[in-house]
Amino acid sequence: MIRSSFLLAAVALASLGWGRPNQGISDDSFHVPLGMGSPPAAPEGNPVSKAKVRLGRLLFFDKRLSRDRTISCATCHDPNKGWSDGSSVSAGIGGRKGTRNAPTILNAAYLDYYFWDGRAESLEEQSKEPIRNPNEMGFSARGVVGRLSSMKGYEDLFKAAFGDKAVTADRVAQAIASFERTLITGNSPVDRYFAGDAKALTASQKAGLDLFLGKAGCAVCHDSRNFTDGDFHNTGVGLSAENPDLGRYAVTGLAHDRGAFKTPTLRNLPDTAPYMHDGSMKTLAEVVDFYDRGGEPNSRLDADLHPLHLTAQEKRDLVAFLRALEGEKVAIDAPTSFPR
Ligand code: HEC
Ligand code: HEC
Repeated sequence: MIRSSFLLAAVALASLGWGRPNQGISDDSFHVPLGMGSPPAAPEGNPVSKAKVRLGRLLFFDKRLSRDRTISCATCHDPNKGWSDGSSVSAGIGGRKGTRNAPTILNAAYLDYYFWDGRAESLEEQSKEPIRNPNEMGFSARGVVGRLSSMKGYEDLFKAAFGDKAVTADRVAQAIASFERTLITGNSPVDRYFAGDAKALTASQKAGLDLFLGKAGCAVCHDSRNFTDGDFHNTGVGLSAENPDLGRYAVTGLAHDRGAFKTPTLRNLPDTAPYMHDGSMKTLAEVVDFYDRGGEPNSRLDADLHPLHLTAQEKRDLVAFLRALEGEKVAIDAPTSFPR
């Protein structure tokens, strides 16, 4: 059964589709790099606008959204660390540790589910949780609204973004989500190759692409422009721990979701080590070795995982291909001052 239809079609058709210029974009808030197609959709009621993006950027970097004013979204989604934080698991206020690895938020706007277990279904909904998570920003929607409403600088920005100066929890979420919708990466060597530039990949990277689509079976799950099928799978990562994180199961209660986690994007991996939901793998070579063994055996291991018997050269090719998914940096400086 061929399920990696999107990427296989992209390769078969090379420049068709992949490199087509974006159509119908009038809002210059978006720069959509080669490979990512159209700008991400925004939900009804929250179209992206420049004023919202400007406000959302300030909120994203503003530590006053945390109880003790020490942690912002950017603490764990740091533009200088691939919009992740470089730690296995993140630390929030008072150094309190969570249990999961911070994913990059680049291209998150294209996802249908958020968090490793998919418990949020929009960026708006997602952004409310870290604010109240005791291991992250440890605050509350009311606390944030109260703090921001007392600042004239923010009231003016809310007025520009939403028409009046009322600061509400929903508007905070809408502005942050709008900012995140502009954080798009693409134009990697792989995108240029798919767009018809045969020289964009080295021989080793091309061999890695063939393995990715074929013998190694990666594209079965890491499909689409964003190299994820948007689905949940049990690869066995972390399941041998004493009290294992059961992932998607905690959300759905369905037996087949035990130990299943969301397939992550594979773009810009060199910037976002360590890997996996628990940050347990430090290098891409380690990840490839893990798949070569067929994942971590357990009673609900995904049927698409099995030992691959890759040669040392094939493993190197696969890593070379993964590295060629490194695209444009989305470099956004932290604001130098914040509204008062
Ligand atoms: C203390 C570190 C920390 C802070 C602060 C933090 N995050 Fe996260 N973020 C994480 C971790 C860890 C996860 C994964 C958690 C999980 O899956 O349960 C995550 C997940 C996400 C995701 C989902 C990505 C995906 O691929 O599913 C988005 C989007 C996101 N955070 C945005 C934000 C925003 C916006 C803020 C500020 C309001 C924020 N984060 C604050 C650590 C943090
Ligand atoms: C059965 C579906 C499936 C297949 C096949 C698969 N993956 Fe994954 N991949 C996942 C899931 C799910 C995760 C997250 C697992 C976790 O953290 O518990 C993941 C995580 C990863 C990560 C870590 C990314 C990050 O940001 O942490 C990399 C790299 C990766 N896979 C590469 C590959 C490669 C290379 C192959 C082929 C050899 C492959 N995958 C095959 C589903 C799959």
